[in-house]
Amino acid sequence: MRKEVAFIIISVLFSFVILSPEAYGGEDFLLEYWERPIALQTHQNDFALYPEECGQCHKDQYTDWKDSLHSKSVGPGLMGQLNPFQDTQFAQSCYFCHAPMEEQTEMKGQKARGKGQEEYIKNPSFDNKLKLSGVSCSVCHLREGKVYGPMRRVKGQGSRVRDNHDGFIEKDFFEKAEFCAACHQLDEGYELNGKLLVNTYREWKESIYGKNNVTCQNCHMPDRQHLWRGIHDRETVLLGIRIKSVRLEKGARLIITNSGVGHYFPTYAPPLVVVRGFMLDKNDKVVQGSLKEAFIGRKVRLDLSEEIFDTRIPPQKSFEFDYSARGDSSDRKIAFEVWVYPDEFYNRFYKAAVNNADMDFNGEEIEKAIKITDASPYRLFRQVL
Ligand code: HEC
Ligand code: HEC
Ligand code: HEC
Ligand code: HEC
Ligand code: HEC
Repeated sequence: MRKEVAFIIISVLFSFVILSPEAYGGEDFLLEYWERPIALQTHQNDFALYPEECGQCHKDQYTDWKDSLHSKSVGPGLMGQLNPFQDTQFAQSCYFCHAPMEEQTEMKGQKARGKGQEEYIKNPSFDNKLKLSGVSCSVCHLREGKVYGPMRRVKGQGSRVRDNHDGFIEKDFFEKAEFCAACHQLDEGYELNGKLLVNTYREWKESIYGKNNVTCQNCHMPDRQHLWRGIHDRETVLLGIRIKSVRLEKGARLIITNSGVGHYFPTYAPPLVVVRGFMLDKNDKVVQGSLKEAFIGRKVRLDLSEEIFDTRIPPQKSFEFDYSARGDSSDRKIAFEVWVYPDEFYNRFYKAAVNNADMDFNGEEIEKAIKITDASPYRLFRQVL
């Protein structure tokens, strides 16, 4: 019965995961680098694949990565809705971004004998521990057992410390936005209301940041740190927007400007930002019936059949929220709050999933995912005028 729910529709969505070559900036090797599944590593027996191993020498990258969502990309929210042995193709379409190495997938595609089609067989190289590590060091830095990395900070200088990977291959594409587009842009597939569902790279490309080559890495990996903080982190969001209030004759206006986000605020459909205006009485109690709300985000139905609204703020643009004072204002004050719900869509989706007994989800995992997404909202801003 899950035909009726988002599951299948998302499956349609992600069965077309292709990025047009032009989005790779004409870099043929980068396109090849991101061919998926990423081919088996041809490493020596004792060569590191797991992030903890790389982390023995690259401590800072490991610690930062471990805190980032890239290390959590194979979490309960994803695994609760996948059955890799039965819905193999569907799972593969998700692994494309969440766990793209061949070692990370339970099943592997091969040409069926005598036919042109693909069939799936059990993958003898499957490594569950590597799968659980998600978008880890190897996903971005390892190809066929060789380490690739950005250009050395100081040209020509090799390290005197021994590495266990026989040096590395320098590639300047590590510092380009196209490197991230591999998973943060979906050109083919699902559109809602004529707009792509995952369009971060193109939003960036058209913005002043794209035009001036202020890259994803400049903001999300400052000084090459492996932080990747975004909408889930209050400090990061505060760096990207400006909030200002002005008095109006009979109330006040809150102006939220996307002053430093390199794409729409927010770029994806899952988060929702809620703006609230209300009155406080002389005891600082909220005056009943005084609440007014507005939303910043792209809200879509759970089955992705419809866009309900799209009020995301493009770079350099503002969102205005007018609040009219209610009642006698001599002993009352106007208050503004801005709240961020980073996982609003997923939280709604998981709750619908557990309430639908017909759906073949892993209830235990989904319950965990509900706990995580229930805990992610935070107050971004508050002001009493
Ligand atoms: C035994 C210690 C050690 C281990 C384990 C190790 N590395 Fe390294 N790595 C080094 C050293 C030392 C260098 C500097 C080499 C040089 O400058 O020639 C280096 C360089 C690099 C670079 C290039 C840095 C730059 O300036 O661009 C990358 C990327 C990298 N390692 C990734 C990895 C990954 C991914 C793993 C795990 C699969 C790993 N390393 C495991 C010691 C190690
Ligand atoms: C192999 C695919 C892949 C690549 C390459 C990749 N990402 Fe991601 N990224 C993901 C996935 C999947 C998530 C979501 C993980 C989760 O929450 O489960 C994510 C999450 C993020 C987030 C956190 C968003 C939030 O909600 O807070 C940021 C920021 C981010 N990526 C930036 C980047 C940047 C910058 C690059 C390029 C240097 C990059 N990513 C490259 C797959 C990728
Ligand atoms: C084009 C790359 C891409 C593909 C393909 C993809 N995702 Fe994601 N996924 C992301 C990114 C990026 C995020 C982070 C979004 C955000 O923070 O708003 C994410 C977040 C999620 C999350 C919420 C965070 C978490 O890990 O619990 C879930 C659940 C999820 N994806 C499930 C799926 C499923 C199921 C599929 C396959 C049908 C899929 N994704 C395919 C890139 C992708
Ligand atoms: C999502 C992709 C991604 C993942 C995952 C990732 N890296 Fe990187 N790494 C990059 C990019 C991109 C750069 C270059 C950033 C820049 O130049 O701005 C980089 C740079 C580096 C460097 C060079 C740092 C310097 O100061 O010169 C090392 C070393 C490194 N990574 C190791 C690791 C290790 C170890 C892990 C796992 C714990 C890891 N990386 C995980 C994308 C990734
Ligand atoms: C000028 C700085 C800047 C640049 C450039 C930039 N970002 Fe962001 N990004 C932010 C800030 C600030 C946030 C937090 C606010 C938000 O979520 O929109 C963010 C949020 C995100 C998120 C969280 C999910 C969401 O719905 O917002 C992802 C994923 C992301 N960025 C990926 C990228 C990628 C990929 C690129 C390059 C194509 C990029 N960013 C370029 C500043 C930047």
